Amino acid sequence: MRTFSRSQAFFKKVRRVIPLASQTFSKSYLQYVPGQAPLFITHGKGAYVWDLDQNKYLDLINGLLPVVLGYQYKKVDDAIRAQLKKGIIFSLPSPLEYELASKLKQLIPCAEMVRFGKNGSDATAGAVRLARAVTRRNRIAVCGYHGWQDWYIGANPRNQGVPEAVKNLVHKFEYNNLAELEQIFKKYPNEFAAVVMEPMTSEEPRDNFLQKVKALTHKHGALFILDEIITGFRFSLGGAQKYFKVTPDLAAFGKSMANGMAISVVAGLEKYMKKMEDIFFSFTFGGECLSLAAALATIEEMEKKHVIQYLWSMGAYLQNSTRKILEKNGLQSFIQLKGKPCWQLFVIHDHQGFSAFEIKSYIQKALVQRGILWAGSHNMSFSHKKIDIEYLLRSYKAVFGMLENAVKNNTLRKELKGKIIPGNYSVRKLS
Ligand SMILES: Cc1ncc(COP(=O)(O)O)c(C=O)c1O
Repeated sequence: MRTFSRSQAFFKKVRRVIPLASQTFSKSYLQYVPGQAPLFITHGKGAYVWDLDQNKYLDLINGLLPVVLGYQYKKVDDAIRAQLKKGIIFSLPSPLEYELASKLKQLIPCAEMVRFGKNGSDATAGAVRLARAVTRRNRIAVCGYHGWQDWYIGANPRNQGVPEAVKNLVHKFEYNNLAELEQIFKKYPNEFAAVVMEPMTSEEPRDNFLQKVKALTHKHGALFILDEIITGFRFSLGGAQKYFKVTPDLAAFGKSMANGMAISVVAGLEKYMKKMEDIFFSFTFGGECLSLAAALATIEEMEKKHVIQYLWSMGAYLQNSTRKILEKNGLQSFIQLKGKPCWQLFVIHDHQGFSAFEIKSYIQKALVQRGILWAGSHNMSFSHKKIDIEYLLRSYKAVFGMLENAVKNNTLRKELKGKIIPGNYSVRKLS
């Protein structure tokens, strides 16, 4: 039986000096069953991580998606070490910036020009500021999660501290609901600077939705921005824009492009990107060289080893097999595994008096005991080998069987002993 006493004790100490005891909501205690899951990781290798209590896990979260090749991936770590010998950051730009920019231009349809950031939020905020400067308009329509900055988070339930005036400029619309976006445009004619959206999360785009959003956005004189922080370097090396054949005016990339190093990108058409020279998008750690070197090595490795194809084929095997297990246990009416094979999302609904959180908690607790770090998604990495996936599938067989009985016999709540995932907050609402 796995125990988490060190994690628990350390958590109390950490929370006295670090609010939330984490830098990221999705990595915090809010996502894990209290006392039944680890809260801190000390190291990782390949597809595995080790917690503070020295338990080993197959990691399906992969640092919230950046770890696309695997932990301590030699080619990338070697590139980082080689750059470290030359220096981390300099007083003038390094030639690596041009090298990476040229590579991205070659791969990503909209990337006629690029600028680099550190977090995904840098890239989305930069793209939005640029769109506002280009159009001289203020309103932004959004669909998805786009980071922690004021311009977007005003549309999120957790928006304390964002000025009303800024909150009023962001307008949400639902995925696959073109009529809703049309209404928003009609209500505020000539006021929208941009539509910002994730190309896809759990739902497939229906009836050329992305192409239609682009056309509608342009009809209303706004810029079409794709937030490819997750889909980039996963759907294809050219992003979801290449996969879905829809080239945006601007796009944001981050996460998977450097196997865990902090780097993001604003990419876009030259006619807009040139105006980057007039707006303010500038920060000390832009162009930090270890991340640039890591991105170049990651992309090179992804090309050489056909990593995208691997993520899709291993992901498809896992996704199809998991769906079969869900069906076999009669769970498919309230648990679905959606998304594309390279990034799969469990969508869980309330069922027979049990809340989605209780059901998710039950699954997480049982998987953690089997050495699987799980928070409701399959964030595929190149280090997830067949043997790991087979282990995961055997675990699902056991856990989903237990869940079926716990629901049928009405024992689920009793088995949880009141311990459920505390986070009634998630950055993304799935359907
Ligand atoms: C689609 C999307 N956009 C933007 C962001 C913000 O990126 P970051 O957390 O690196 O600032 C995220 C982070 O999860 C994301 O998933």
